[in-house]
Amino acid sequence: MGRRPFVAALVLAAGRGERLGAAVPKAFVSLDGQSLLERSIRALAASGRIERIVPVVSSGDGPAYAAIAERCADVEALAPIVAGGAERQDSMRAGLASLPDRIELVAVHDAARCLVDPSDVGRVLDAAERMGAAILGEPVRDTLKRVAGGRIVETPDRSEYWAAQTPQVFRRDWLVAATAAAADSGRRATDDAALVEALGHAVEMVEARAPNPKITRPEDLVFARMLLARRDVRAEAGGARSGGGRAPMSSRNRE
Ligand code: C5P
Repeated sequence: MGRRPFVAALVLAAGRGERLGAAVPKAFVSLDGQSLLERSIRALAASGRIERIVPVVSSGDGPAYAAIAERCADVEALAPIVAGGAERQDSMRAGLASLPDRIELVAVHDAARCLVDPSDVGRVLDAAERMGAAILGEPVRDTLKRVAGGRIVETPDRSEYWAAQTPQVFRRDWLVAATAAAADSGRRATDDAALVEALGHAVEMVEARAPNPKITRPEDLVFARMLLARRDVRAEAGGARSGGGRAPMSSRNRE
């Protein structure tokens, strides 16, 4: 087997997050004592697979970020911040342009998905290593309706639809080409995979095993706190089973 590719992650944190209604930009909002941005950085680092983690932050938020950088001094992969742009796609492009030449795979992650499970990060990286492009997601649970002028015009077959999450991981050369093509054509997309798909590349969908919600509205923070509490309970139960240390492989596999 050859060596593993060099991987960088862009953590997009330059949005205002107005729907959250907080006094600070969304990525700086605290969830049980840790900002969404710090949680995202730590979740990516915990995958053990990313050599460079680049926070993309609004240019005015540099001073606020300094406190996070200090708290994350133990995260070896953490790179200096890059200034984001007016839209998410502009922020991604700025982060991409900052990467050193040796990086071969790029994981794009929304800081707002700060509960992503490090093993799901590893699974989507594995798929992208094989395929060149892969994203995390989950099958939709609700029936979808296409609506125009307040009326339903179509009910698509739900079994074919998935909700896209992040990280979304791509060969660097594909993402660079997709970003350049989007800039030329003026294409705007709400996720990065759409840009890579537009070039005709196959993108693998990897089902997230753990909840990976995007924090958007105030009630999402309540849900996120519940998920964190459940994680703590599970971690304690795992610790008790193995006498306080790491759970042995056999018991971890049973979860
Ligand atoms: O607004 P929304 O939740 O869709 O944004 C998704 C992610 O993209 C967030 O983590 C946000 O901080 C980031 N973003 C960005 N630059 C922008 C807009 C959004 O980095 N101009």
